[in-house]
Amino acid sequence: MKIAVVGTGYVGLVAGSCFAETGNTVSCVDIDAQKIARLNDGQIPIYEPGLEPLVKRNREEGRLTFTTDLATAVRASDVVFIAVGTPAGEDGSADLQYVLAAARNVGKAANGPKIIVDKSTVPVGTAAKVKAAAQAETKHKITLVSNPEFLKEGNAVNDFLKPDRVVIGCDDAKAVEVMKRLYGPFIRTGNPIIVMDVISAELTKYAANAMLATRISFMNEVAQICERVGGDVNKVREGIATDTRIGHSFLFPGVGYGGSCFPKDSKAIVATAREFGYRFKVMEAVEAVNDEQKRHLFRRLDQLWKGAFKGKAVGIWGLAFKPRTDDIREAPALVLIDMLVEAGCKVKAFDPAAVEATRKVVGDKVELTKHMYDAIEGVDALLVVTEWNEFRNPDFERLKTLMRQPTILDGRNLYDSADLRAQGFTYIGIGVP
Ligand SMILES: NC(=O)c1ccc[n+]([C@@H]2O[C@H](COP(=O)([O-])OP(=O)(O)OC[C@H]3O[C@@H](n4cnc5c(N)ncnc54)[C@H](O)[C@@H]3O)[C@@H](O)[C@H]2O)c1
Repeated sequence: MKIAVVGTGYVGLVAGSCFAETGNTVSCVDIDAQKIARLNDGQIPIYEPGLEPLVKRNREEGRLTFTTDLATAVRASDVVFIAVGTPAGEDGSADLQYVLAAARNVGKAANGPKIIVDKSTVPVGTAAKVKAAAQAETKHKITLVSNPEFLKEGNAVNDFLKPDRVVIGCDDAKAVEVMKRLYGPFIRTGNPIIVMDVISAELTKYAANAMLATRISFMNEVAQICERVGGDVNKVREGIATDTRIGHSFLFPGVGYGGSCFPKDSKAIVATAREFGYRFKVMEAVEAVNDEQKRHLFRRLDQLWKGAFKGKAVGIWGLAFKPRTDDIREAPALVLIDMLVEAGCKVKAFDPAAVEATRKVVGDKVELTKHMYDAIEGVDALLVVTEWNEFRNPDFERLKTLMRQPTILDGRNLYDSADLRAQGFTYIGIGVP
């Protein structure tokens, strides 16, 4: 099949490469000329495990190309995926300007019937707007499919090649067949393609992210209670996760969720509900809890130091909103950095992938180091913010020698509190005694 993917970000680049991998001819389009130039130069603009060899192989075999020329890509394709960003607008609702601009451009370029597949996360009712925007520009038939994406950054290629499920919202039988042919190679182990109406498909994506965000905020509140009553959230987690009705995923307390999806999608589903005359109370609380949680490590430090931040130095391990990505959108580390700098601290920070992305946002406000141990030299406390594997078993003797004060605030509960205290550290975890 011949495919165009409009928007070559985390989703578009992964989707395009994976469709090329199964033999389709894919043209990835972006308005960011610099990004396209880098891709044509063999560079991958994002950090995503497994993506580089996939892009390289499919480019070399001529199945994957990158361009800013949307019209040519659309004319050469039967199916056009839209995977542009849908950031949160000022009132929390999704900003659809990029999706609608892409749809209009696809309509303008159409030289025959086209299937437009909306892969961006968009609120209920957007598919109809996208179809109308494209159809207004062409006489050729536009068929709209809603196909929300569930990949996780850090495991995106694997998730795309082996999805738990594929959701297709469409009422056109022919387009559904086309989608089944496209996704067939990825679901050979029997995972389902779930076909539904467009509105339900659009809502499914938000409901999935809202549920996951809810689990995180729920456990962060359980951790808050543990800290007050002297319980151990790790034990509570084990105790509930073994209930098969609850399960193990997304029950780890931490520094709050970030990233490009949970924060904006939680806000957007609240905004959609409001628009349709309903107050989504649970999600309002989930968001409020998360905002608090992002500040939690600072508050613990404030208690420990009794507000005496001036002249202190703090090291941060982990800037990306989660491991195995360089994505710092809405990352809790950025909130902590702002609070620490504002309070008069010197901040040093390290991340295995996100240092360059962070530099663009924080400039020289923070000393960004090349190695993890450089970030703790002479500091009065270490904040562990992202659970990269390399932070799990550090050389604690070396930490003690390098740090001015051996204090660790472990935002991901990576370490054993008793063990660290026995080694002479002041240790503060999340919801652990
Ligand atoms: N990142 C994730 O983990 C993830 C997972 C599932 C769904 N989603 C959803 O997928 C969508 C894309 O997310 P992302 O993280 O890939 O975004 P991104 O910001 O990484 O990439 C979007 C790309 O679209 C390009 N673009 C914008 N307008 C364009 C236009 N008119 N024509 C061509 N290109 C255009 C931008 O230059 C950018 O490169 C969002 O709706 C997001 O919510 C993201």
